[in-house]
Amino acid sequence: MRFRRIELDPVARRLQRVASVSDLRRIAKRRLPRGVFDYCDGGAEDERSLAENTEAFGRIGFRPRVLRAVGKVDPATMLLGRPLPLPLVLAPTGFTRCAHPDGELAPARASERAGLPYTLSTLATRSIEEVRAVSDGRLWFQVYAWRDRGLVAELVERAAAAHYEALVLTVDTAVLGRRERDVRRGFEMPPKLGIGTLLDGAVHPGWTWAFVRSDPIRFANVVGRGPGGPSDGTDPVSLATFTNSQFDANLSWGDVDWLRERWAGPIVIKGVQTVADAVLAAERGVEAVALSNHGGRQVDGAPAPIDLVAPVADAVGDRMEIICDGGVRRGSDIVKALALGATACMAGRAWLYGLGAAGERGVDHVLTMLDDDVRRTMALIGASTVADLTPDLIAR
Ligand SMILES: Cc1cc2nc3c(=O)[nH]c(=O)nc-3n(C[C@H](O)[C@H](O)[C@H](O)COP(=O)(O)O)c2cc1C
Repeated sequence: MRFRRIELDPVARRLQRVASVSDLRRIAKRRLPRGVFDYCDGGAEDERSLAENTEAFGRIGFRPRVLRAVGKVDPATMLLGRPLPLPLVLAPTGFTRCAHPDGELAPARASERAGLPYTLSTLATRSIEEVRAVSDGRLWFQVYAWRDRGLVAELVERAAAAHYEALVLTVDTAVLGRRERDVRRGFEMPPKLGIGTLLDGAVHPGWTWAFVRSDPIRFANVVGRGPGGPSDGTDPVSLATFTNSQFDANLSWGDVDWLRERWAGPIVIKGVQTVADAVLAAERGVEAVALSNHGGRQVDGAPAPIDLVAPVADAVGDRMEIICDGGVRRGSDIVKALALGATACMAGRAWLYGLGAAGERGVDHVLTMLDDDVRRTMALIGASTVADLTPDLIAR
C-alpha cells in the first residue's frame, strides 16, 4: 500500500478536490462573509432569470456522433478578428476586490496566462491603468453610460491609451435591478464595518484579515465622481443609490454612434435580450452583441441567453459575432452555445467563485477546468474543431 503525499500548500490542498464550478461556489460561500457572497451570487427579485440561465443549458442535450477520429481536438477560434485558444471571455464584474484583495488584477493575470480576453468593469476596484500594468494580454473595457458623458469620453480615451482592444457597452442597466439579497443584508460598496460585519468577520477571519490589511476599496476608474460630489470613492453607499444617481437612463441607439466616433476599435453591445434589438445592433454596424441579462441581476423574467443564440444567429449571424453571456458553469455549456451559432461565451460568476475560493489560483483553476471540459465534450460528441460544432449535434 502507498500513502498519498500530503499537500502542504493550503491553496493547492483546497483546489485538489475541486471538480466543478459548483464546488468552487461552495468553497467561496464558506470563505466569504455572507453579504459579499450574496452580492456575487445573487440575482434580481425572485431570481427566476438567474436560475433560468443555467436551467436552460440543462434542457439542451447532445446528439453525439461516433467514429470520427477525435484524437486531436482543438477548440481554438477567432473573435473580433483575432485568434482565441478557447471560445471564452471573462465577463466584467464590479467591486471585485470584495471577493479578494487582488480584485481585478487576478482575473487580468489569469486570463493573460490562458490567452483569453478579460473585460474590466467601469465599476472596477482597480483602474484601467493598474490592470494594464499587470497584463500584456487581451483586455476589453466595459462602459456604463454615465450622465456625465465627459467622464465616459475620458474613460474611453484612457482605455485606448492603455491599449484595450474592445469596448463593451452594457445596455441592460438603465436603472439597477432590485437585488433583494443586497437589500436584506444592507450591503454597501465598499463593505462597511458595522456590528454585523464584525460578527460575520469573526466567522470569516481569512477574509477579514485580508480586507483590513489592504488599501481601501474604491471605484478606481471614477475616483472623485461619486454621489455627493468629489469623493475618494471610499464612502459606503448602496449600489442602487450609486448607479441610479450616476447612470443615464436616457441611453439610446444614438449613443452607440457617439461612442463609435470616439473609439476606433471594435464595439460589443452587452445586454441584448431580443432578436429585434440584435437586428438594430447589426444595422448600427457593431462588431458583436453579447446576449445577456446581466447574469439575472437586472429584469427578472428576461430570457436565458442560450435560448436566444439560435434565433439571433439566424437573423444576424452573418453580419456580426454573437457572444452568449450568462449561466455558463461547464465547458459543455460553451460547446452547446457554439453549436447553436454563438462565436464565444462570456462567464462572470464561474471565475468569481474561483477568486473567492482560492484567489488568482482559483481563477486559473476555473479556466483550466473549462478548457478541459470543452475538449472532452468535443471529443465525446465527435467534433475536432469549432467548425465541426453544428446544430445537428444538439438535441432539444
Ligand atoms: C458580482 C457581479 C458583478 C457584475 N458587475 C457587472 C458590471 O460591473 N458590468 C457589467 O456589464 N456586468 C456586470 N455583471 C454581469 C456580468 O458581466 C455577466 O453578464 C454575468 O455575470 C453573466 O452571468 P454568469 O455570472 O452566470 O456568468 C456582474 C455580475 C456579477 C455576478
